[in-house]
Amino acid sequence: MAFEKNILCIGAGYVGGPTMAMIAYKCPQYRVTAVDINPERINQWNSDQLPIYEPGLDKVVQACRGKNLFFDTDLEQGIKEADIIFVSVNTPTKTFGAGSGMAADLQYWEKTARQIRDYAESPKIVVEKSTLPVKTSLAMERILTNDSDQIYFDVLSNPEFLAEGTAIHDLEEPDRVLIGSHETESGLEARETLVEIYANWVPREKIITTNLWSSELSKLAANAFLAQRISSINAISALCEKTEADVSEVARAIGMDSRVGVKFLRAGVGFGGSCFKKDILNLVYLCRSYGLNEVADYWEGVVRINDYQKDRFVLSMLNAMFNTLAGKKICLFGFAFKADTGDTRESPGIFIARELAEEKAELVITDPEALSNARIDLADLGEQVDYVEDPYEAAEGSHAVAILTEWGLYRDLDYERIYASMVKPAFLFDGRNVADHQRLFEMGFNVFPIGKAPLTHY
Ligand code: NAD
Ligand code: UGA
Repeated sequence: MAFEKNILCIGAGYVGGPTMAMIAYKCPQYRVTAVDINPERINQWNSDQLPIYEPGLDKVVQACRGKNLFFDTDLEQGIKEADIIFVSVNTPTKTFGAGSGMAADLQYWEKTARQIRDYAESPKIVVEKSTLPVKTSLAMERILTNDSDQIYFDVLSNPEFLAEGTAIHDLEEPDRVLIGSHETESGLEARETLVEIYANWVPREKIITTNLWSSELSKLAANAFLAQRISSINAISALCEKTEADVSEVARAIGMDSRVGVKFLRAGVGFGGSCFKKDILNLVYLCRSYGLNEVADYWEGVVRINDYQKDRFVLSMLNAMFNTLAGKKICLFGFAFKADTGDTRESPGIFIARELAEEKAELVITDPEALSNARIDLADLGEQVDYVEDPYEAAEGSHAVAILTEWGLYRDLDYERIYASMVKPAFLFDGRNVADHQRLFEMGFNVFPIGKAPLTHY
């Protein structure tokens, strides 16, 4: 069958893989290929063991892989054949040189732009899917057009708003799709081509179009706003613990104001994930580079509160457990940065485990999907950490259990059984406020939620 369009995505990670799978699933008339420089990742995409855990992803991939969805390592061929190229490579925080620890590291992204320029033999639409500093598309255009061949490229910005754990739902029914372009004749034409792709399954009124810079900035700002809500409620949780107010009650009261809304007001151990911190720091760096120091300070505060929240959690464990954790066995329930993913990038669990290890605690980590990543993240802690799939086995003989990820599973465990197997006094630190605290207290646990008075037997 002849396909209407050839779509290529460079970078088959958490975004590129699921996004291309969804386009292929919804648009059998297009041939969709995702390429990656990591051959192991591509092998996994072509196997039954996909490289990422994402509810519903298997079904979507199985429905179209080998028909109109392909995973490959041949970047050159992919570029030559493509009409539209999405670029979804990683843009982590820079760890060297100017802007180290703040700015986005654009080396992977720039390499991709050069590869497109070197291999393309016909005009292409190039779509920025990665999250990038404002004005990056200008740099991309300069790289793409800096050649004697003068092949014409249109650059669009189409940031991704999916969240891990709900990626398939977010892609299938997005709140909005954002497409930024130049407002020139050719830019508007390219924009319409991309609108047409999404319009195969997304209602037109949810596909919004802007100029390039608004689109790039909206992505950074959207993540900053979301993270800011979490830091706001986490800051209030600290005050709740001092005043006997209950953060869940406060969040409910705030969120019912329709101007605020109920989502993203769950207090916890702090936000993790590959993007919030990186994107806020990127925004902060951008503001500073334009001399907007007050604006930069404001957003930097969101990250500071997040660090404070993680610190506070460990200090409250130390205080509660008589100011010493040395030699005590502590079991961490959950290591993924949120439920329904195996991803541990920037997970609060990494920081908390390291702090507890500093205190010479012995750690046991359990998680239904993230243990292989946890082993890599904490490899240097060696024997000090055990990784155990079964939560009952993991908690056995421990002085404390700390819930770090809100997996549904941790709500419904047989806590009587867990309590019976623990050293007494037994402590439970609920970093996600998921357990039934009163019931646990009645069983005998000393319970320390976030943003609520502790329930203790002493
Ligand atoms: P990722 O690390 O999972 O995937 C990126 C992939 O790009 C990797 O597999 C890497 O091998 C590949 N790659 C790098 N350079 C390449 C090259 N020259 N050629 C081919 N492949 C190359 O990252 P991710 O989580 O998918 O994030 C990608 C971008 O999307 C980032 O900018 C991120 O900020 C943004 N984003 C991520 C999420 C999320 O939930 N993870 C959501 C929205 C936006
Ligand atoms: C986030 C955004 O939600 C996506 O819209 C965006 O596309 C993505 O970043 C990105 O750019 O990478 P993600 O990081 O996958 O998605 O997951 P979230 O659901 O946003 O959770 C982030 C962190 O915040 C998690 O650690 C989560 O536990 C925490 N969180 C979330 C809270 O502590 N409280 C809440 O109320 C909500």
